[in-house]
Parts: sequence; C-alpha cells; structure tokens
Amino acid sequence: MILGSGRAPGKVILFGEHAVVYGRPALAVPVTQVQAEAVVERSEIGAGLTIVAADLGETIAVRNAPIDNPLAAAARLTLVKFGLSDPDWRVTVRSTIPIASGMGSGAAVSAAIVRALTEAVNQRISESATSFQLPASDISALVYEVERLHHGTPSGIDNTVVVYGQPVYFVRGQPPQTFRIGQPFMLAIADTGIHSPTKVAVGDVRRAWEREGTRFESLFNRIAMVVETARSAIAAGEPERLGPLMDENHALLQEIGVSCPELDALVTAALSAGALGAKLSGAGRGGNMIALVMADSASRVAKALVAAGAVRVIVTEVADGS
Ligand code: MEV
Repeated sequence: MILGSGRAPGKVILFGEHAVVYGRPALAVPVTQVQAEAVVERSEIGAGLTIVAADLGETIAVRNAPIDNPLAAAARLTLVKFGLSDPDWRVTVRSTIPIASGMGSGAAVSAAIVRALTEAVNQRISESATSFQLPASDISALVYEVERLHHGTPSGIDNTVVVYGQPVYFVRGQPPQTFRIGQPFMLAIADTGIHSPTKVAVGDVRRAWEREGTRFESLFNRIAMVVETARSAIAAGEPERLGPLMDENHALLQEIGVSCPELDALVTAALSAGALGAKLSGAGRGGNMIALVMADSASRVAKALVAAGAVRVIVTEVADGS
C-alpha cells in the first residue's frame, strides 16, 4: 500500500550560473520532461526506514547511512521536522534527470523524498485532526540543507527552481521571485555525457576568485548585466534577443574557466545549425548546454548536437508556469 508519493522536475539555468554563488542574479526554469519521483510504502516490522535508489540498484538503511549520504539526509531532516525517527517504511526513488549534469538531479530527488515522506506522515496520522503540511519555502530550505552536504557552498538556485516548479529570478539570500515570460521560446538541451559534480567546478572557481578577486568580480558583474538584460527581453516577449546574450554569457563562463572542449563543440555545432545563441548551463566542465531554437530549426539543431557528440537532446518550451 502506498503511503505517500512526491515528484519534482529537473531544471536548467538560463543565465547567471557561478556568478549567482557570489550574490549576482540568475534565471532558471523547470524542465518537466525529466522528473524525480519517490514513493513511500510500509515495510516489515523492525526494518526501519530504507531508501531504494531503483536506478542505481542501491538500498540504503537510513539508520546506518553516513551523515553526508544525500538521500538519507533528505529523509532524516524531514522526519525530524515531524518528530519521527525510524518508521518501518521503504522509500523507492526513481529519476529520469541525468545525474551530475547541471539539471538539478540531486535537488529534485531530495524534493521528491521530502514530499513523499510528508504525505506518508499525513496518511499515518489521518485519524487525528492534525495535518502536517510543509510550505514550499520549508521544502526548499530542507533541500538546501541536503545540497550543502555535498555541494559546499550552493547558491540555493537549484532547490528553489525544482521545489517551486516555476521560472525563477534568484538572488542568494533573497526571497525567490518568478519572472514573466512575455512570449514562449524553445530550447534544445544537450548533454555532453560527462559527469561533472557541481562541488568540483564551484570549488575551482572559488580558488580562482581568491587568487584573482578583482578580475573575477568584474566577470561576475558582466554576467549580472547579461542576466538583467535577458530578464527584460524575456518579459518584453522578445526572446530572439536572448541569442547574443547566451553567446556572451558562454564567453564569460569560458573566461571563468568552467567550459570544456566538449561543451564548446556542442555550442559551435548548435550555432552552425541555426541556433540563435548557445551556452553551457549549470556548473560546466561537462553536463549540459542549452541552445535557443525556433520551431523550424529545432530538429536540425538537435541532429547537429547528436552528430557533435551529445548523448541526449531534449527540446523544451519555456513558458509562463512551465
Ligand atoms: C549549479 O546548478 C549552479 C551553480 O551556479 C552553483 C550554484 O548556484 O550553487 C554552478
């Protein structure tokens, strides 16, 4: 019998990754074609809480899991909120979001676990009058705590966009705002197939920023200007203006040192096939890139991306409430 279930989408950062860790704004949108899902069922008496990571073929006994195991941490932090410790439940997690590729897989899996356990707790106490609900801000805060365990200094953009499931204009430490999309536009999202843990790229940027503070602060300021211009173009319903802004943001990320030959090859291939702009998305050094495409160029660009080495291409529409 299912006690609870929860889902969360993937995400892409449109503009502003890395600079967002240093207090500059960034824009991100959910990608609903890929999802993480968690389902809670009762298990044998005395078994305690287990998490089955179905895609990885792993079963984790939460009571024995290391403190920094992200799946166990998401479960523990949620149960502590409700005053529960080790119920005899099995949480099965599945995700179609590529791992370590800038699409928010870790945050989405955590959000799905938090939601599924919250539903299960409510089912358990359904005979009593109380209902335990977690507002999105609380779920996002819990997921942020988990992100901190394996990312070091996350900005908070990943947990925010996957939990709210809305386009997000994000500034670290400020309440998230959604942003208006005046006219829907299409993106091709292409995966290099190279796993790139966010923590590594973010750590390298931090060391470079410590060495060359002035240069990096100025690169982050230039990215912030791109983000603000992009936000106005999107709100004004002029998405074609995003193409050159994506190219500029990619060049700035190259200067920061987070691109790689495989990402650059995909960016070049997308532009040659008619994309209006292209950039890496997320932490870089692998993972995904995004290209701005029109309805008539989408399949040509997608084919060119596969020919240039992409292991997966998703074409998605970015729209209000997407
Ligand atoms: C990762 O999706 C985005 C980064 O800006 C890191 C962060 O914001 O925590 C690279």
